[in-house]
Amino acid sequence: MKTDILQGRVALVTGGASGIGLAIARKLFEAGSHVAIADVNLDRAEAAIRDFPARDAQQKIALQVDMSDTSSILQMVSACEGRLGTVDILVNNAGFQHVAPIETFPPETFRKLIDVMLVGPFVATQAVFAKMKQRRWGRIINISSINGKIGAPFKAGYCSAKHGIIGLTRVTAVEAGDSGVTCNAICPGFVDTPLVRNQLADLGAAYQLPPDRVLDDAILQHVPQKRLLDAAEIGDFAVFLASDAAAAITGQSINISGGYVMH
Ligand SMILES: NC(=O)c1ccc[n+]([C@@H]2O[C@H](COP(=O)([O-])OP(=O)(O)OC[C@H]3O[C@@H](n4cnc5c(N)ncnc54)[C@H](O)[C@@H]3O)[C@@H](O)[C@H]2O)c1
Repeated sequence: MKTDILQGRVALVTGGASGIGLAIARKLFEAGSHVAIADVNLDRAEAAIRDFPARDAQQKIALQVDMSDTSSILQMVSACEGRLGTVDILVNNAGFQHVAPIETFPPETFRKLIDVMLVGPFVATQAVFAKMKQRRWGRIINISSINGKIGAPFKAGYCSAKHGIIGLTRVTAVEAGDSGVTCNAICPGFVDTPLVRNQLADLGAAYQLPPDRVLDDAILQHVPQKRLLDAAEIGDFAVFLASDAAAAITGQSINISGGYVMH
């Protein structure tokens, strides 16, 4: 990827202290943008961003945010604006997983999943949208999932949030109209991150599989490429969506899944 295609842009990545968000933040930074990593875990966000090798006047900051809390989201956006400048690229990535059958799925956990992965991205979009439209350039990238396209057993809250954010993506794209702002969703398949590794035990229990069979029997058997994806593969695509070359792509929900889902 060319190293300066996002030079001067300001990117804000939620949940950027780990996994996919970290890989996206790093790739956006390598492409020349200033980057704010916002995460509920500030220590991990600070440690992550320290690792990015800065060039010239390029800037990188860590911010704390709880994506289930409206005032925390608004503070994150204004802290980013105050320290780096108006947000050009918003990546709504923060998320978590909870695996349980519907009969025992705690309603408060269902609500939290919706808050962090659907209401939070809506509030963040609302906070940056008008300025993006005024400046006639902006990129909103929502991290959905292949679970935004298909139902997966034992993931009622997660699938509901990830389906919902595809709807939000489409409305945002339509409302952006000809303003120069695009909004797209990336739908990853299984990516090798803590979110996937940490759900293996619960998936094993739910599917009644021994721990050493969960990855192959509950996950990779559905994936033509038979592998977990590397988070950097999602990061590279996010850089493309953020670039001028992707100006005509909007309202889309694009799978990066090793062939798992094809619609
Ligand atoms: N790993 C996968 O296979 C996969 C597949 C599809 C979609 N996704 C999505 O990608 C995104 C990132 O997941 P990941 O796999 O990198 O997970 P991860 O656990 O490695 O990273 C998630 C990050 O979000 C942060 N976070 C969680 N709750 C938060 C909150 N309330 N406020 C702010 N930050 C919060 C965590 O601290 C963590 O740093 C999520 O939205 C996830 O649903 C992941």
